Amino acid sequence: MPAGLERLLDDLNPAQREAVTYGEGPLLVLAGAGSGKTRVIAYRIAWLTASQGMSPRNLLAVTFTNKAAGEMARRVEGLLRPVGVGAPLIATFHSACVRILRQHGKHIGLPSHFTIYDEDDRLALVKECMKEGELAERSFTPSGAVHRISYMKNQMISVADALRDARGPWEKKAALVYSRYEKRMKEVGAVDFDDLLLCTVRLYETVPEALAWYRGLWRHMLVDEYQDTNRAQYKMIRLLTAEHRNICVVGDPDQSIYKFRGADIRNVLEFEQDYPGTKVVRLEQNYRSTQRILSLASAVIAHNVQRKDKTLWTENASTRSRRATASHCSPSPPSLRSTSAARPPAGSRSSPGSSASSRPTGPRSRLPR
Ligand SMILES: Nc1ncnc2c1ncn2[C@@H]1O[C@H](COP(=O)(O)OP(=O)(O)O)[C@@H](O)[C@H]1O
Ligand SMILES: [Mg+2]
Repeated sequence: MPAGLERLLDDLNPAQREAVTYGEGPLLVLAGAGSGKTRVIAYRIAWLTASQGMSPRNLLAVTFTNKAAGEMARRVEGLLRPVGVGAPLIATFHSACVRILRQHGKHIGLPSHFTIYDEDDRLALVKECMKEGELAERSFTPSGAVHRISYMKNQMISVADALRDARGPWEKKAALVYSRYEKRMKEVGAVDFDDLLLCTVRLYETVPEALAWYRGLWRHMLVDEYQDTNRAQYKMIRLLTAEHRNICVVGDPDQSIYKFRGADIRNVLEFEQDYPGTKVVRLEQNYRSTQRILSLASAVIAHNVQRKDKTLWTENASTRSRRATASHCSPSPPSLRSTSAARPPAGSRSSPGSSASSRPTGPRSRLPR
């Protein structure tokens, strides 16, 4: 191990150390907030590169918000810079997809300078589609239609499926708008945030050479906040790692916050089935909260129906003076701005529109982070 990294493992508790130094193969780290999950990812990246000699090029670490990606990159650079090792690609799902599609999207018919529609562009286009089809009415609002379209995309429901399976007048209208919207997007050569994921999955599913290339490039994949992945993100991860199975995910099954955006808790609950032979590590020591808060949190989450068991404990004294802080941030859209033709390819830190926001309000914000 290079000088400067010998003490790497001293910063970790035994469970974290076990996860960080685990060899090849699927690894599932389960823990509550403040138990060092992100630390495990950062240290594992340092371990794999500086200690095991992997090229940083061959690692991909993904997370959800630009803020989280920036924070992780900062931590990793802090560990690697002193030993002269470069950091790997640490990106949000969306910015990783922009990168992939700018390079290889042409194989699925995307122009290399495709435009990315942001939420405002998307709403404007949906309004136009509704106007054209004379579909606007009080019970069917443009924002309702946008939400529905996004939901369908995240569930990977195609236009044809939506038209075929629509039940009732509301769903029929939504399917019609979806159909028009997709047609218009195609005509102008644009993609929205949801498309970034879907197109990447389509690329991997339909162009074996592209899939093989990325499988060869990213020999290890690490995912933070895995409980927040939706169907398309899940597929992308599966496709990339099905062969080498070097996948490390960390998550808290009790804190999935993106259900409204299609996050699917089954992704965590079924990880061990998806990757037989998974090593599971539970981080049960908490570094942020007092025992009183943890007992409260445990009592609350014990009521969750779909969950994996975990216990929380802390060395922090059980004081009344500490308060669990609630974050009141808005959900984090990938915050890519539109008309990105002139923009440089998105990377982790210079990711498109890095005006990251962090946690939405929701169940998570009521629990200690
Ligand atoms: N082994 C450890 N020793 C000391 N502090 C730790 C340890 N593990 C985590 N921490 C601290 O606990 C806090 C939460 O860690 P983080 O990795 O962000 O947790 P999570 O991602 O699970 O919320 C951070 O301030 C981190 O530095
Ligand atoms: Mg974290």
